[in-house]
Amino acid sequence: MTAKPTILQELPADLDQDRLPRHVAVIMDGNGRWAKRQGQPRIMGHRRGVDALKDLLRCCRDWGIPALTAYAFSTENWGRPMEEVDFLMTLFERVLRRELEEMAQENVKIKFVGNLEALPRSLQAEIERSMTRTQDNQGIRFTVATNYGGRQEIIQACRELATQVQKGLLQPDDIDEALFASHLYTAGVSDPDLLIRTSGEMRISNFLLWQLAYAEFYITETLWPDFNRVEFHQALCAYQERDRRYGKV
Ligand code: IPE
Ligand code: IPE
Ligand code: MG
Repeated sequence: MTAKPTILQELPADLDQDRLPRHVAVIMDGNGRWAKRQGQPRIMGHRRGVDALKDLLRCCRDWGIPALTAYAFSTENWGRPMEEVDFLMTLFERVLRRELEEMAQENVKIKFVGNLEALPRSLQAEIERSMTRTQDNQGIRFTVATNYGGRQEIIQACRELATQVQKGLLQPDDIDEALFASHLYTAGVSDPDLLIRTSGEMRISNFLLWQLAYAEFYITETLWPDFNRVEFHQALCAYQERDRRYGKV
């Protein structure tokens, strides 16, 4: 049996390769609603959501987008029913274990950001293993925000800087945007150029509050498990039509 050909394997001809976003961030929303529409429990939506993320990662690689950041679990998501939270933690662990070797072979460099210490120990171990295994990879940079909160990230950076000031290693005036950014989880990765949110919600939900300062936003009604290369193509077309003025005229 031959493998099913992937649609839009290569960069669609109507996209300008030189003006692609260098970093795409995605709020993968709508798994629960997707499942509900199918008459299935919410967790089935999360399962299918993993497939959508896998293909988006490959698509970024195929089309020449060097960095992808995905919001997998927010600091607010602990407020969900315990069964759902438990399912998600187990899912993350299982997916990592299953997919790590292939991603490593494909030269993906994986990084997890967020308050990782609060995650189950066995998940922390898989996360650690995945980051170590891929640390020298030079391909796409894949960042997964897990137990991530933008405000908490900013507070954490403030604490580190305040400690350095207290020790006399730093003067308050030394703190500028570059130094501050170097204390965020995303240090060393350029800010996202494009933020995609699925399922139609017009909010940022505590994601990358600092880093999204000048990102272009693309919101689609499509629910995350249905997000595919056709949708991504549309998002990139919309992005290429934007005029990024950065406050200028
Ligand atoms: C996003 O889908 C996945 C996570 C937040 C983990 P949701 O689970 O938020 O799906 P909806 O928004 O309830 O449909
Ligand atoms: C944002 O989705 C978090 C993730 C996608 C991981 P939510 O579904 O948690 O966001 P709200 O609750 O609609 O703001
Ligand atoms: Mg949601």
